[in-house]
Amino acid sequence: MITKDIIKEMKQQGHGAIANLVKSQHDVGTINFILEHLGQLPSNFDSSFLYELLTHQHHQVRLNAVKNIGKLNSKTDISKLSDRYKIETDTTVRREIISSIGRQRSTHNKPLLFDFLNDEDPKIVCQAIRGLLVFEKDKEVEDHLKPLINHPNEMVRTVIYKEYFAQDNKNVDGLPHHETHNFLKNVVVNADVLQALKYVPDESVHLTFTSPPYYNARDYSIYPSYQAYLEFLEEVFKETHRITKEGRFLIVNTSPIIIARVSRAHASKRYGIPFDLHPYLVKNGWEFIDDIVWLKPEASVKNRIGGFMQHRKPLGYKPNAVTEYLMVYRKSTEKLLDWNMRSYDHQTVENSKVANGYETTNVWKIDPCFDKVHTAVFPVELCKKVIQYYSYKGYLVFDPFGGSGTVGRTAKALNRLFFLTEKEQNIFNICKPKLNRKVCSMNDKLNF
Ligand SMILES: C[S@@+](CC[C@H](N)C(=O)[O-])C[C@H]1O[C@@H](n2cnc3c(N)ncnc32)[C@H](O)[C@@H]1O
Repeated sequence: MITKDIIKEMKQQGHGAIANLVKSQHDVGTINFILEHLGQLPSNFDSSFLYELLTHQHHQVRLNAVKNIGKLNSKTDISKLSDRYKIETDTTVRREIISSIGRQRSTHNKPLLFDFLNDEDPKIVCQAIRGLLVFEKDKEVEDHLKPLINHPNEMVRTVIYKEYFAQDNKNVDGLPHHETHNFLKNVVVNADVLQALKYVPDESVHLTFTSPPYYNARDYSIYPSYQAYLEFLEEVFKETHRITKEGRFLIVNTSPIIIARVSRAHASKRYGIPFDLHPYLVKNGWEFIDDIVWLKPEASVKNRIGGFMQHRKPLGYKPNAVTEYLMVYRKSTEKLLDWNMRSYDHQTVENSKVANGYETTNVWKIDPCFDKVHTAVFPVELCKKVIQYYSYKGYLVFDPFGGSGTVGRTAKALNRLFFLTEKEQNIFNICKPKLNRKVCSMNDKLNF
């Protein structure tokens, strides 16, 4: 049996020992095992057998051959690789060929890499871009890459934008990334969110966590139509995007809803709010990051399966809806998350580290919370998780649909700051004493 130690020993022997070993094998699995465990290749390595393997009938062997050829660096026979690229049908092998050519960092390969920019596979185009970007301040490279800002593929456009077009968009007020305005700290405003946000400067908040009204399913909000409802939410999240710091998160809790039927002659109607809202968020600069499922105990939700349990007739199946979504988005930026994290001092990072017991999957089992006055209150446990996982201590958490103020209270308990808006006076009145903080009512004319 061929082991890693045997491969190592034969590699050290040289004189084509590995080539002979590979050639004597008929089993594809063993050939791949050898190729995958070759490690670094010595300068006197006899690589000719690797080029022969470029025509092997099994794609994994071809892929491993290309990977090893890539390790040869300056000794790589580029013409053999580019010939193979022209006839290769396997996507992973084609991509690896471009990656190997790019890794050579040789100016001789530039014309080839320019050709690859026309490939129909966006990943090949990205590999070629990567290979070309090593030639910094090279006018010819820039002339080939900059026009790709109009490439049909979004990944390609993003890379080019970051390299050539992104500007350091400083906050208009010159506020550092980690800071916010004093007049927004621990404030709840009794007003329509869109009215209130007119007074909030760009790039003010670090995290938004909210549960918008459930269309017309609950009595605290009435919209003339579903389209009007979605357009209202679009406006709210467009404004939220404006006031959010670069690269920071928005987490929206929603779920499909049901509007009861008008009479027995009509059907009730389901509305897939999370799915319908998603395109509006993406369109307005929110990058989709994750879908977290909030799982509730079956006993806590409305029973819909009862009828089916009796009749068992297909088509009449209506499962009990035990989940809601937490849709996680990030304000689109070409900057990596690291950039956001580095804006905090060492102590803040240490103090904000998430303790053991955090969720490891995107399904969070949490009991719902029932409130005598407000029908859709966040469980504190849910708020705690979101705030701890998506914000640092001392920074501003926003809830445009503040309700009874759960986000505010939890943010405060976790040493964050809060800024909430809530339209309904009676709900605001419940929220106010609970938060025991600066409040701002409609009568103050939003004069913070
Ligand atoms: C689903 S509830 C949020 C409950 C909240 N998460 C809590 O824990 O209490 C939505 C809230 O948004 C408020 N609301 C609806 N339209 C609003 C608007 N245009 N501006 C501000 N608040 C609004 C409603 O009055 C309701 O309290």
